[in-house]
Amino acid sequence: MSENYSDYTISFNYEQRLAEYDIKGSIAHSRMLAKQNIISDSDNEKIINGLNIVLDEIQSEKIKWNKDLEDIHMNIEFRLTELIGDTGAKLHTARSRNDQISLDMRMYVKDLNNQAINLLIKLVNTLINLAEDNISFILPGYTHLQRAQPILLSHHLLAYAEMFYRDINRFHESFERVDVMPLGSGALAGLPYNLDREFVSKQLGFAKVSNNSIDAVSDRDFILDYNYSSSVTMMHISRLCEELIIWSTDEFGFIKLSKEFTTWSSIMPQKRNPDFAELARGKTGRVYGNLFALFTILKGLPLAYNRDMQEDKEGFFDTADTINSTLDILVSMIGTTQFNKQNMLDAVNNSYILATDIADYLVSKSVPFRKAHEIVSKMTDYCLDNNKYFHQLTIDEFKKFSSDFEIDIFEINPINSINNRNTVGGTSELQVKNSILDIKSRIKSIATKYA
Ligand code: ARG
Repeated sequence: MSENYSDYTISFNYEQRLAEYDIKGSIAHSRMLAKQNIISDSDNEKIINGLNIVLDEIQSEKIKWNKDLEDIHMNIEFRLTELIGDTGAKLHTARSRNDQISLDMRMYVKDLNNQAINLLIKLVNTLINLAEDNISFILPGYTHLQRAQPILLSHHLLAYAEMFYRDINRFHESFERVDVMPLGSGALAGLPYNLDREFVSKQLGFAKVSNNSIDAVSDRDFILDYNYSSSVTMMHISRLCEELIIWSTDEFGFIKLSKEFTTWSSIMPQKRNPDFAELARGKTGRVYGNLFALFTILKGLPLAYNRDMQEDKEGFFDTADTINSTLDILVSMIGTTQFNKQNMLDAVNNSYILATDIADYLVSKSVPFRKAHEIVSKMTDYCLDNNKYFHQLTIDEFKKFSSDFEIDIFEINPINSINNRNTVGGTSELQVKNSILDIKSRIKSIATKYA
């Protein structure tokens, strides 16, 4: 019975992805101990050689994990001591598992932020390429999922590029906050040795060392940051996937997803289901859940380390795997999507989408906007009753609604409507081209930091 109870506390079974970081951290720690004459140079050498063997054994899955040793820290140290004898037992001098796990997790989270940034850069670049390739495709823009005003497809795609650009910044900020080296905090109060924390920090590529030993071992904000950044990114992905799903229906017919990203129905032979997009939308739920699980784990904890904190891992690892695989798939899925130019244009033409433009036309003839709105609203009802679109009305019909209509009313068309919306950030082709240049340069500057 008691053997089963001990299973409750183990974590080595899901922590193995931290092993490499744990060993890198231990090597840096051992070097520092030798530099500060806390252990001898020859002990340091033995420890480093031994740790490299252990790493090899872990990577080739030769290591025997011992569940009585609970976690990877103890397993690695135990195996090291088996390999090099008592010297291995010197490694844990001036260190606690509390600052050790904080170090491992910070190193991993730094890498994950970096990975997310690089995947998001790929995604934004893919969206920019699509916008450039389809720069003048026209489709209806929607509000309330009702056709609202014509827009360029490139403008719509760049809206997502802006969202994902903000996500890059969010991961970048998360990276800067996690980039703090906690080792040397000990269990919570610091250590009675002459340590060189800066030396460890530099070896491991951290920007600085932590300021407060109690905070350093209690803090998991950097995982919350990562989980939050991932949640916002998944929310954006989910919105994009929702549009891919809607746009690929027979009802819309705006896009065709590449075969690779659809699956067959087991019963209805005609179907190509957008399962990848649906799963990405669905997986957003677990990423939010992991964020809230960690908030809840942390909320009642007194300082400093409490074992509850071991529960930070599985949900967070799940988030990491989910965001990485989802971004990877999305880059390909978006990049291989075919846009149906004609269906998009038909949706614009078979609609009352130029109503605002007609009202603006009347405003240009000195009709007050509210009055113009009323006139075009009446015209819309008339068209609906008579089964016509605006461009099918004769000039006499136009004039029945307002004597201010003249023959130039027929110059209103989707392309002019779009190019008239030339305010900064608007949908005109000129503005879209400017936006492309602008986001390209922003992406270039962040990419150099994370190459
Ligand atoms: N497995 C532990 C965790 O993830 C490592 C720290 C253990 N510290 C302790 N005092 N038991 O949080």
